Amino acid sequence: MVLMKVLVYGSLNIDLLFFVDHIASPGETISSSSFERSAGGKGANQAAALAKAGLSVTMAGKIGHDGLFLLKLLESYGVDTSAVIRSDGATGQAIIQIDKNGQNCIVLYSGGNGEITLDEIEKTIAGFNAGDIIVLQNEIVHTGKIMERAKKQKMRICFNPSPFNEKIASLPLHTVDWLFVNEIEGAALAKLPPDTEPQTALDRLVKLFPSAEIILTAGNNGAFYGYGEKRESRGIVKSPVVDTTGAGDTFTGFFLAAREKNFSAAQSLAIAGKAASIAVSRKGAMESIPFEGEVFNIDRHLKN
Ligand code: RIB
Repeated sequence: MVLMKVLVYGSLNIDLLFFVDHIASPGETISSSSFERSAGGKGANQAAALAKAGLSVTMAGKIGHDGLFLLKLLESYGVDTSAVIRSDGATGQAIIQIDKNGQNCIVLYSGGNGEITLDEIEKTIAGFNAGDIIVLQNEIVHTGKIMERAKKQKMRICFNPSPFNEKIASLPLHTVDWLFVNEIEGAALAKLPPDTEPQTALDRLVKLFPSAEIILTAGNNGAFYGYGEKRESRGIVKSPVVDTTGAGDTFTGFFLAAREKNFSAAQSLAIAGKAASIAVSRKGAMESIPFEGEVFNIDRHLKN
């Protein structure tokens, strides 16, 4: 039997975390109570989440020599990093302020994430097969080309349009099989006001992208699922919030892994919610993501 593979083509960032009382306002200088340099990038975080949730994952992207520790960490989770190119430039960087409520504010420098070439994309995707999954976010260049090439390869496409910007609308979104959005991204993609009810945005997205499973996360209002006539939702799993960085990436990885392990959409929402609730109770992005075993009691409970 040929085993399905997951390719995450995405960003790898060095996260510079500043723990502050409040997010700095324009013109204000504030001190941080602590500082950490840690592993992140939406792509790398999602690769880590998928691997920690038990899937076989390859990471593709580009880093500089300063980012080698990211590869070591991903490899320690079982991620195949052979498709991450090393360049002479800098690795992507994220300056992250985390306030006393665990909420964050992020400034990105793309570094290697902005230097991926079409030739590298061609060589990487050629190594995957029909039915394999590709997971994409919006932190690297050529996302549209990657979608088209992956579709030609008959791969299944998972897309998380984050961070959201004006370029998203011009992507070939009809190729997508799973679309993960938060409520702001969902409303923007559905061309609705930002304060639109999550269910309304979800209904519109289901109509706009009929071949995609839509997963919409709505902060304290929980998470919503839509595909065809089917609708599911789950409330949040409460936990002490230390740092929300990477929680969305954890949710995406665990939801997708649960679906691939044949859990229902409702069960997958619950598993992903539990995983994200653990991630927010810890500092950092990639390192805050739980392992399958930490989420597994809910898994087993749901199967019975
Ligand atoms: O989603 C969280 C991630 O966003 C951080 O790890 C940071 O690198 C930014 O890409």
